[in-house]
Amino acid sequence: MYSSPNGTGVRAVVRKVTAPELSARKVSAGARPISMVTAYDFTMARLLDEAGVDAILVGDSLGMIVQGLSNTLPVTLDEICYHGRAVARGLHHAHLVGDLPFMSYQASTTQAIESAGKLIKEGAFESVKIEGGVEVAESVRRMVQAGIPVMGHVGLTPQSVHAFGGFKVQGRGVDGAEKVLEDARALAEAGVFAIVLEAIPPDLAARVTAELMIPTVGIGAGRACDGQVLVCTDLLGMSRGHSPKFAKHFAELGDAIVGAVKSYVSEVEAGTFPGPEHTYKPNAIAPAADEAPPSELRH
Ligand code: KIV
Repeated sequence: MYSSPNGTGVRAVVRKVTAPELSARKVSAGARPISMVTAYDFTMARLLDEAGVDAILVGDSLGMIVQGLSNTLPVTLDEICYHGRAVARGLHHAHLVGDLPFMSYQASTTQAIESAGKLIKEGAFESVKIEGGVEVAESVRRMVQAGIPVMGHVGLTPQSVHAFGGFKVQGRGVDGAEKVLEDARALAEAGVFAIVLEAIPPDLAARVTAELMIPTVGIGAGRACDGQVLVCTDLLGMSRGHSPKFAKHFAELGDAIVGAVKSYVSEVEAGTFPGPEHTYKPNAIAPAADEAPPSELRH
């Protein structure tokens, strides 16, 4: 616990949100819903933290958002660690979750626990997130035994994009719904502190949420979840091109950025920037315009 500026000039006591606290946030028990947002750098992390989000996820979505890839598959553990360290420096309050990227845990339980350990040791993360259900439950159990808080992720798990044949809604029909339920149950039994439900029908998300003692965090899973997560650039309207149905823009910062940079370009071209207010005082020893400058001022 420590003091931090809260923007009002008054020093407020700020505490980091912990995994056990998030784990207790069941809306059915009267708790406040969890807000989670992705971040990949210090500047964004600091702003999201100031806004009061409960948890920041350094998702493997950084492959698409930061690197411009068409899916998350090439993202490496070292890249997640690099972005994690940057994000961690911007956080006073929010809990920091790191994504286990594709092929950092699928090969064996040993590989999974080593990768999770690396995220904690080298990425400054306070918990890890893993995609999958029944097939990763044993790895989750071992991580939890090792003292690593784990967040699950079922439904549309983007690392399985090729197996799904694209980024498609999951959990449709009786079999699809049963698979999501079984995966969520297996993760809860293995000890995850929360589960992300991605792109599943809202009634199925409501069923999973009602059945589990741990919170669900939805993205494209409707309102019945115990919390919501969005990719920061979707939330802020910075994405260009196709945006998923669930990605509500709470601002249009993409347009604002383009407008601001257009103004900058115009002023540079017109010679009106920098103005006197953006220029240092002239140097008293500077030569008159018609004098040759002293040698030390030439460069
Ligand atoms: O990688 C990511 O950003 C995610 C969230 C969308 C849940 O997994």
